[in-house]
Amino acid sequence: MSMFTTDSVIGVIGAGTMGAGIAQVAAKAGHPVLLFDAAEGAAERGRKNIGKGLQKLVSRGKMTAEDVDALVGRIQVITSLDEMAPAALVVEAIVERLDVKQSVFGQLEEICSEQTVLATNTSSISVTAIGSTLKRPQNLVGMHFFNPAPIMKLVEVISGLDTKPEIADAIFQLSASWGKKPVHAKSTPGFIVNRVARPFYAEGFRIFQEGGADNVTIDAVIREAGGFRMGPFELTDLIGHDVNYAVTSSVFAAYYNDQRFLPSLIQLELVNAGHFGRKTGKGFYDYSEGAEKPAPQTAPEAAKPNSVTIEGDLGVAEPLVAQFEAAGITVNRTEGDGRIQVGDATLMLTNGQFTTVRAAEISNRNLIHFDLALDYAEAGRIALAPADKADAKAVEQATGLFQAAGKAVSIIDDIPGMIIMRTVAMLANEGFDAVNQQVCNEEAVDIAMQGGVNYPRGPIAWANGVGLARILNVLRNLGASYGEDRYRPSPLLLRKVAGGRQA
Ligand code: NAI
Repeated sequence: MSMFTTDSVIGVIGAGTMGAGIAQVAAKAGHPVLLFDAAEGAAERGRKNIGKGLQKLVSRGKMTAEDVDALVGRIQVITSLDEMAPAALVVEAIVERLDVKQSVFGQLEEICSEQTVLATNTSSISVTAIGSTLKRPQNLVGMHFFNPAPIMKLVEVISGLDTKPEIADAIFQLSASWGKKPVHAKSTPGFIVNRVARPFYAEGFRIFQEGGADNVTIDAVIREAGGFRMGPFELTDLIGHDVNYAVTSSVFAAYYNDQRFLPSLIQLELVNAGHFGRKTGKGFYDYSEGAEKPAPQTAPEAAKPNSVTIEGDLGVAEPLVAQFEAAGITVNRTEGDGRIQVGDATLMLTNGQFTTVRAAEISNRNLIHFDLALDYAEAGRIALAPADKADAKAVEQATGLFQAAGKAVSIIDDIPGMIIMRTVAMLANEGFDAVNQQVCNEEAVDIAMQGGVNYPRGPIAWANGVGLARILNVLRNLGASYGEDRYRPSPLLLRKVAGGRQA
């Protein structure tokens, strides 16, 4: 029998951005909800805002006015914590401070029954630490929603050291019954999403910092070839650099300065300047009135080649072949190690090396790396990174080939791993490392990144699609290129690749 029914009273403390959203989710599921906020009038305001927000759904025909009234009617504003007594579950979404959270939960232990489940929506504080001052830490669990709570599917169910497994399971089931996608995770810095997502920002920032490409082009490639809704620059402009930098810094410190989480100096400079992004009118982009929207770097139109030779299997990039054929290009196939020969140009999927280094190794100065895409058939843009000595003619021939396949081409500087390959390899590596450290399982990583931050594919599923041996090779080459511990492959990835070979 499950611990909660729709009659179970759900308490929500804190009626700000997250608390109001959580109250709405619980009320939508049919629960009576008690909403409390320490600031005078805040809970009532939160309740009103829920109603206002839902009116938009009514005008779009997604909800009836009666349903909205019933939903909002199930939310009761209370003005004293003592009124939380009947709650079967209390979810806390107050200020992000350990001492304040401990104090509120300490009071709730006196007010509510011994069976009441206490949940915290904290995004960065150890659930174990919050529970440490409680009489019944076994009843405390993390219930981490994502903003906006009524829309984002993910709930990270966080177990502290003393959390009873039955309590975590009950919250998992309850979240699922609310239409959410819950995942279990151990209380560790950043939990799943705020840990695994770090390279999405960091690698983009580094590519920009090293002049690999400008922010506009990186964002365009991530969106149009990577399938992400936003690139790292536009997304952090939206989140706010003060907030995003603080999260990165706190995860970095919490992991004892592990270089994997190293914060970015270019982001720090934005913070120093007070250019927090959209909310201040300026970040990586300019949001002032009349500011022009910058265009990504896009190669001019080049001639369509008549024929192309595919040497060997292109692996994940194989869908390109059908696109070349559909464009009326004659495709010859021969044995080989996965290359596209067009005119003087040799194209290969980036392996994490500088193109220039690989070109020297294979004695082919006209080597041009192309980047990973989520789906090569769908991608509207592709990034190419020619070796330093590549002829302009070869670059033009490669450009014409991809343009014939319907893609805008961005010629970027020679940067190891390019944009998407490098980002996805690092996301997957972090996911594998979280699994290796028993934070969660592989499925949870993918559910979390899709449901919490809208990734188009889970990083682990994506890495499997590319081939784990290839991903491992990219990481090793990045490591060799930079000589930084940051790119060390997760032991779990090593083990999986070896296991795959043994079959
Ligand atoms: P907010 O500032 O919008 O709302 C916090 C509310 O809590 C305010 O209305 C405040 O008056 C009230 N409050 C503060 N101290 C209180 C106390 N001692 N007792 C009762 N009410 C109190 O903050 P937000 O963004 O909703 O964050 C709340 C919690 O959720 C934090 O722990 C945050 O880390 C976490 N979180 C935030 C996310 C976000 O994107 N904003 C996402 C996921 C988690």
